[in-house]
Amino acid sequence: MHFYSSAVVVIALASMGNAQSQYTSTGTAAVAQARATALTLSPTSSVKGKTFDRFVTIWLENTDYDMAAADPNMQWIASQGITLTNYEAITHPSQPNYIAAVGGSTHGFTSDNFGTIDSSVQTIVDLLEAKGISWGEYQEDMPYSGFEGNYVNQQTGANDYVRKHNPLISYDSVTSDVDRLAKIKNFTMFYSDLEANKLPQWMFITPNMTNDGHDTSITTAGSWARSFIEPLLTNPNFMSNTLVLLTFDETESYVSDNDVFSVLLGDAVPASAQNTSNGTAYNHYSILATVENNWDLGNLGENDVGATPFY
Ligand SMILES: *[C@@H]1O[C@H](CO)[C@@H](O)[C@H](O)[C@H]1NC(C)=O
Ligand SMILES: *[C@@H]1O[C@H](CO)[C@@H](O)[C@H](O)[C@H]1NC(C)=O
Ligand SMILES: *[C@@H]1O[C@H](CO)[C@@H](O)[C@H](O)[C@H]1NC(C)=O
Ligand SMILES: *[C@@H]1O[C@H](CO)[C@@H](O)[C@H](O)[C@H]1NC(C)=O
Repeated sequence: MHFYSSAVVVIALASMGNAQSQYTSTGTAAVAQARATALTLSPTSSVKGKTFDRFVTIWLENTDYDMAAADPNMQWIASQGITLTNYEAITHPSQPNYIAAVGGSTHGFTSDNFGTIDSSVQTIVDLLEAKGISWGEYQEDMPYSGFEGNYVNQQTGANDYVRKHNPLISYDSVTSDVDRLAKIKNFTMFYSDLEANKLPQWMFITPNMTNDGHDTSITTAGSWARSFIEPLLTNPNFMSNTLVLLTFDETESYVSDNDVFSVLLGDAVPASAQNTSNGTAYNHYSILATVENNWDLGNLGENDVGATPFY
């Protein structure tokens, strides 16, 4: 029994042709066809910010603060930046946290189930584009740019790329625009954009279900995170007055206070602040407030308004 393309899924896709039908899982024939024509865009820009000129957030999964803080690779990452010791996720489970981080609200999402948000609802993308600031998402193992379904490992059938960990993909204001979909890319594109010095100024990075710790442990997630970040710290195509936030979507425990281990790093963090900690109360809405403040973007009129920016 192989997990290769299921004729049933492919037929459903052809007849329904919408994101809901793709949500279950997508067969390889349909993917190969769509991949051949998927639009991919990598626009760049160089709009100066107050504190940084590039913002990157990398999200890991479902780990209690103490577990993350005890991991040796996370400790190494922390030594390179500022550990935020009082940073709270918004809710449980995963999906509404991701949605909140780009839209300032969970927009009624209370589960990981498929859903979409009305096209009248704005996200950080609207604010960035209004100021000419380039943006992109990098989602590991997404089979092609703008893909709206879920995707399993084609050899093992294991969950690999999941829509619920893609913050912008549930917003119709993003998915109804082909140029926006074309900036929701995978890690193949991350490395080719890096190599070509075409990374955008705002990035959201989601590793796959193995590397983010969701289907594994903090040991795997910590090891992946260090192996991903360490070479980037000295890569000038990535580090150009860049602020990086490494965080977790939520804690594993549903009864804890949902404080997640988070580190700010990058060459925008002053050298004197490396290997320090900061106990200011932040949360995932601080991500929006930080970016809005840095580039004078205005706001979304949601929970971004009252949130405390990192800078
Ligand atoms: C970070 O600070 C701790 C003490 O708080 C120290 O033991 C450690 O060596 C420092 N690490 C680096 C890389 O500077
Ligand atoms: C990543 O996306 C690009 C652009 O759509 C596609 O050509 C490539 O095959 C994808 N890589 C993987 C590993 O799926
Ligand atoms: C996630 O990516 C890693 C490589 O970074 C790979 O070894 C692993 O198999 C992938 N996970 C799945 C479920 O395919
Ligand atoms: C850390 O904490 C102080 C308050 O003690 C605050 O002024 C500062 O901006 C904080 N954030 C960073 C990223 O240093």
